[in-house]
Amino acid sequence: MDLPFGLNPYDNDPGAWGASLLNNAELLLACLDAAQARSVAEVGAYAGDLTRLLLLWAERADARVIAIDPSPQPELEHLERERSELELIRETSFEAFEHIPLPDALVLDGDHNYYTLIEELQRITRRSEAEGIELPLLLLHDVCWPHGRRDDYFDPAQIPAEYRQPIVPEGGLYPGVEGIREGGMPYHNPAAREGGPRNGVLTAVEDFLAAHQGLRLAVIPAFFGLGVMWREDAPYAGELARIVEPWDRNPLLERLERNRVLHLASSQVQLNLATNAQEKVRRQEALLQRMLASRAFAAAELFLRVRQRGKPIFSRSQIRELLGQR
Ligand SMILES: C[S@@+](CC[C@H](N)C(=O)[O-])C[C@H]1O[C@@H](n2cnc3c(N)ncnc32)[C@H](O)[C@@H]1O
Repeated sequence: MDLPFGLNPYDNDPGAWGASLLNNAELLLACLDAAQARSVAEVGAYAGDLTRLLLLWAERADARVIAIDPSPQPELEHLERERSELELIRETSFEAFEHIPLPDALVLDGDHNYYTLIEELQRITRRSEAEGIELPLLLLHDVCWPHGRRDDYFDPAQIPAEYRQPIVPEGGLYPGVEGIREGGMPYHNPAAREGGPRNGVLTAVEDFLAAHQGLRLAVIPAFFGLGVMWREDAPYAGELARIVEPWDRNPLLERLERNRVLHLASSQVQLNLATNAQEKVRRQEALLQRMLASRAFAAAELFLRVRQRGKPIFSRSQIRELLGQR
């Protein structure tokens, strides 16, 4: 179960969603090592689960780690205090890309939608061309279900209207369901429908690739999908290809991931049904308790006993039995 450096993927993931890129640790670190990265920036660091791994790796690799997040969780802020070598930038990717030095590797795991991804990729490419610096190794999260082909917006107001899909706030997502399924996996601002142009992280990556020569993409269908993109003429291209090729769109891994998300979404639906049923039972029990305490109800039972010769159609003892009070 343990990850590299003895980390536990479930420390901050009690529901075992496997949402953090930390779950792809072995492959991520192998890619960083292959590229001999000496600096890595993580866009979207949330609670710092992956950041912690990157810091441990950086000690060994003598590398620098930057985390970029406009809204870091307290655990990440705690990590920043604990590890003075961590540079935490409280900005969006677009803001941070204006001033950070281009890193050797860039993890893109912030706002999971077409517009943000394609803009991030274009802005980084423009900078690398303008500065004559090699394009960073790009590690992209959520290139498979649910965000591969469906946008989600951290803050819809930040997305130009022409790029924004219709949204169902707090909509539930379920594999194989193009629209929204009640009780499915909850996201804050998911697109109302999956698929179609300008929708989803993988769609953005593919459109970017179609407009740029000399790039390669591997899609590793594990834990919501890890994309690895690199220049074919990068000095490490051969070594990187050797590492990721066996995993790239691997059909067995695809089936495993499909199976995993189906069970995850299905348990979410069951959890919702159970929670709703529990709430209904709680309200019914409260009503029965009030009836038991009511003198009018006791009188009605007495009246029925007389009319129905000692066998009333309801009784307080039946209610007590239902409530487990005898
Ligand atoms: C899925 S979480 C990141 C998880 C983390 N990389 C990991 O693997 O453990 C997404 C994070 O992206 C941040 N975020 C949202 N929009 C962003 C943006 N435009 N730029 C940078 N970060 C963003 C959110 O605040 C959130 O903390």
